[in-house]
Amino acid sequence: MTHRFRRIAVITGDPSIADPTKRGASYHEEDRLTHEAMMAAFRSLEGYEFLFWSEHERLLDLLRDQRPDLVVNFCDTGFRNVPTQELNLPAYMELLGIPYTGASPAAMVLCFDKAIVRLVAQSLGVAVPGEVYFPADAPLETAPDLYPALIKPNAADGSVGITKDSVVRNRAQALDYLGWLRATLPGRDALIQEYLPGPEYGIGVIGNPDTGLRMLPALEVDFSRLPAGLNPILSFESKAMPDSPYWTDIKFKPAKLATDVENRLEGWTRTLFRRLGLRDYGRFDFRVAADGEPKLMEINPNPAWANDGKLAFMAGFAGIEYHDMLRLVLEAAVARAERAG
Ligand SMILES: Nc1ncnc2c1ncn2[C@@H]1O[C@H](COP(=O)(O)OP(=O)(O)O)[C@@H](O)[C@H]1O
Ligand SMILES: [Mg+2]
Repeated sequence: MTHRFRRIAVITGDPSIADPTKRGASYHEEDRLTHEAMMAAFRSLEGYEFLFWSEHERLLDLLRDQRPDLVVNFCDTGFRNVPTQELNLPAYMELLGIPYTGASPAAMVLCFDKAIVRLVAQSLGVAVPGEVYFPADAPLETAPDLYPALIKPNAADGSVGITKDSVVRNRAQALDYLGWLRATLPGRDALIQEYLPGPEYGIGVIGNPDTGLRMLPALEVDFSRLPAGLNPILSFESKAMPDSPYWTDIKFKPAKLATDVENRLEGWTRTLFRRLGLRDYGRFDFRVAADGEPKLMEINPNPAWANDGKLAFMAGFAGIEYHDMLRLVLEAAVARAERAG
């Protein structure tokens, strides 16, 4: 390859400090293993020299002083593992004039606010669940009666604030959950959203609209092994608690979508990718409503990069090995940076 982007710094969350998306807010063996697999996969790519930076105390100095040719922004935890500071790192790289993979700060801001994503999607003709925005300071007794509902924070990632009890079927459950949410995540506005009981699908993409957005095969979340009585959702337990049936009994499988449904989901994905300004890769989560229609749940710019994450599964369904998935993301950013001059 003849491009001038050879010295690549891969930046990630900081394992040495607290992280709210992890069990007990700290990193564990499984996180170390995914991190090592990621580093090994990058090191196997030819034509690049990789630096791996995760210590946030030194991160800003390293970026400024060492000036890599391009940064792989895998810091999806936010600077100092503070989710609302995810956008500050790409903003800083823009100030330094260093190109980076993935979404701009603007796209991150938009997509971190699920109610805003929903309104933008709706305005573009994308089907979305009914929902009520419930501010953190609204009196609990004014909560609307919408059942069954899924209650979640408007702004959060990694299923923080979504537990097995977030599916509510009556007023007592709704008030209990809202109360718990307020105690656990003070000040965080909530969504009381139409519960989508059908199959859950993910659409993953790599690339950019002007050079080609590559659709990966759709993924379906397989809840069929989950013990009876547990609500089928990708709760916090599914992402952070290896002992929970939500972790052990939920699998990912290739979705078998009717052609018209697949075309619709992919069309919505393309439209939203462009409109919200995602770059290089993204993952769009949909779920089928009670009336049989798939609706948008959320958009993930810079989706999870781990070798056991949904994007890696989708790439695997297409026969793309993990290191090649990482290469495709990197190449999408390199192509973009080259065009930018
Ligand atoms: N309205 C809904 N109906 C049914 N399940 C939902 C709904 N919203 C979220 N979920 C479940 O919760 C999971 C996490 O929700 P999501 O909005 O994607 O949050 P996060 O950003 O934390 O991934 C989804 O993957 C899905 O299983
Ligand atoms: Mg999600």
